[in-house]
Amino acid sequence: MDIIIRDNYDDMSQYAAEIIAALVKLKPDCVLGLATGSTPIGTYKKLISMHQQGLDFSNVKTFNLDEYYGIGIDMEKPYSADQSYARFMYEELFRHINIKPENIHIPDGLTKEPHKFCQWYEDEIKKAGGIDLQLLGMGGDGHWAFNEPGSSLSSRTRVEALAQQTLDDNYEAFYKKAGISREQMPHFAITMGIGTILESKSILMIVNGAKKADVVAKCLEGPVTSQITSSAIQLYGGGATVVLDREAASKLKNLSHYMHVEKARLAYGL
Ligand code: GLP
Repeated sequence: MDIIIRDNYDDMSQYAAEIIAALVKLKPDCVLGLATGSTPIGTYKKLISMHQQGLDFSNVKTFNLDEYYGIGIDMEKPYSADQSYARFMYEELFRHINIKPENIHIPDGLTKEPHKFCQWYEDEIKKAGGIDLQLLGMGGDGHWAFNEPGSSLSSRTRVEALAQQTLDDNYEAFYKKAGISREQMPHFAITMGIGTILESKSILMIVNGAKKADVVAKCLEGPVTSQITSSAIQLYGGGATVVLDREAASKLKNLSHYMHVEKARLAYGL
């Protein structure tokens, strides 16, 4: 696992966007796994500017990690669409680049048959040849996508109940200002499983901010545990890259080692 520390959010985002752009140039029909949350917004902004300078997404396929259950892209629903991850992705990335709508996959939060849908999503990922690069953030309790504490580390795409900390984080971030009560906000999500994520051909995790420093240290240097589902990164056999800003990296015990490794790699051209 490569752990890269950058001075700030902007540099972290630039580094992550360069990794994604390099793949898109190398393999124009690559399959990207995409994430939502405030963390990847900077990376998406960089990709949008790269697109304005010629980066071509016309043959790229994407699969998003998750979507709230009960909301989605049905703009007719009363409150739903504003907070849906589908809306987020269109606003933050898709409408600014030349990706084909038929190449975009986001779990359908409005499906009437969630279990069937989850199997279909897994099958579509396989049909596309698997995910070449999965971009990931990290929830406040160390989760990936919506794999809340206690999720099996070999879980597949499924409907998952949101943990209290996630509900609190979401309420503060989105629903409170929209005047939506805790009862009205979604309490379930459709999420790729940890097993699904670990099958990606490469993983790129980005985390920023002092608020996540403790959980980042637990994820990368603590025991692998279903209580912090992102700690499954330690089991990942492919190429995992973790890009952190200084604040998020500040509680790592082996921080100086990671910084040394990055310098040494550059010096040796590895
Ligand atoms: C949600 C998403 C995760 C994301 C997390 C962190 O829980 N399901 O995929 O990593 O939020 O969000 P933020 O980047 O806003 O901290």
